[in-house]
Amino acid sequence: MPAQTEKLIIFDTSLRDGEQSPGVTLNTDEKIQIAKQMSRLGVDVLEAGFPVASKGDFEAVQRIAREVGPLMVDREKIGEPMTICGLARAVPTDIKECAEAIADAPRKRIHIFLATSDLHLKYKLKIDRDECVKRAVAAVTLGKSLVDDIEFSPEDAGRSDRDFLCHVLGKVIEAGASTLNIPDTVGYNTPEEYGALIKYLVEHTPGADKVRFSTHCHNDLGLATANTLAGIQNGARQVEVTINGIGERAGNTAMEEVVMAIHTHPNYFPVHHTINTQLIYQTSRMVSELSGMMVQPNKAIVGRNAFLHESGIHQDGVLKNRQTYEIITPETVGVTDIALVLGKHSGRNAFRERCKELGYGHLAETEFQKAFEDFKALCDQTKNVNDAHILSILSTIIPCP
Ligand code: KIV
Ligand code: ZN
Repeated sequence: MPAQTEKLIIFDTSLRDGEQSPGVTLNTDEKIQIAKQMSRLGVDVLEAGFPVASKGDFEAVQRIAREVGPLMVDREKIGEPMTICGLARAVPTDIKECAEAIADAPRKRIHIFLATSDLHLKYKLKIDRDECVKRAVAAVTLGKSLVDDIEFSPEDAGRSDRDFLCHVLGKVIEAGASTLNIPDTVGYNTPEEYGALIKYLVEHTPGADKVRFSTHCHNDLGLATANTLAGIQNGARQVEVTINGIGERAGNTAMEEVVMAIHTHPNYFPVHHTINTQLIYQTSRMVSELSGMMVQPNKAIVGRNAFLHESGIHQDGVLKNRQTYEIITPETVGVTDIALVLGKHSGRNAFRERCKELGYGHLAETEFQKAFEDFKALCDQTKNVNDAHILSILSTIIPCP
């Protein structure tokens, strides 16, 4: 980590925005299990839920605050427990319920949101800009009277008027907000646009020097990670993310992508993180299994194929030096059981390696040649050639070793 970089706060919302994925519902025990894993992973702030949404949500947030909030397991390097956060609309009932749900956590935060785009003000909330500012200030003032750490999100910021945003944000800073989260709620922005928005807000919001700006991007155009990274480059020092990118519609920014982008380019991004990258794969599997949301095989970092090489040229390169075709070692993210995938694109070197692994390292050149030809012929007929197939080919050439 270059000495001069600033710490990037990793805010995980898998249990709140992630749980808003169609078809996902987690019970309280499953949420606790995931929350404990997030704590060990090194997440700084965990958005545990939206307490006013249902009795079940309230109880889950309360149990996470009590049972996971104080945990320090594997957090020695970070030196403090995870902050437990609850979401609230800018209305008194939400804010009071939220404060109650998180009360037992040693470190706690209320996240208050209110839409600021003219579209949302006119059609959804049916209020004007002055009323929006009044509600935002009243909500943050109430929140601050209950909990010290207040985050404010102008919902649909990605399509809001920039100068109006600066005005609202300046007012909520005066009222006590210390984190300003800038949601691209509908995944509309491009990286240049979102980066420029963060830069503008950092430069023009009254009191901006006293607060932390945060990104919150959705993946409707497949740009969530790119937008988040553009936000960091332009001054954001917190990112709101989910494991495997789960979330509303096309999902949220995937934590593993942002963390590994920073890890792979330590001299490019002006930040460092304190995530234990070796727990990324395990966490991804846990979230996928408990949420029922499959991870696509070619998903960056955590997909089943992310570290597999099938083409002969790539396999040959990797056998000679892994860096030829790998920018991240699988072990860095906790993947340990990687084997070269054998298929019709595989070459002789990869096939010879697999023969050795299967106990046939002693084949004569003619035997090896015959086995390789049989293997290639089988690949033309069978999509997934596995070890049993290879053993069957080898055993017809020479008896079991
Ligand atoms: O996408 C969004 O705007 C949100 C807010 C509640 C922060 O999830
Ligand atoms: Zn969201």
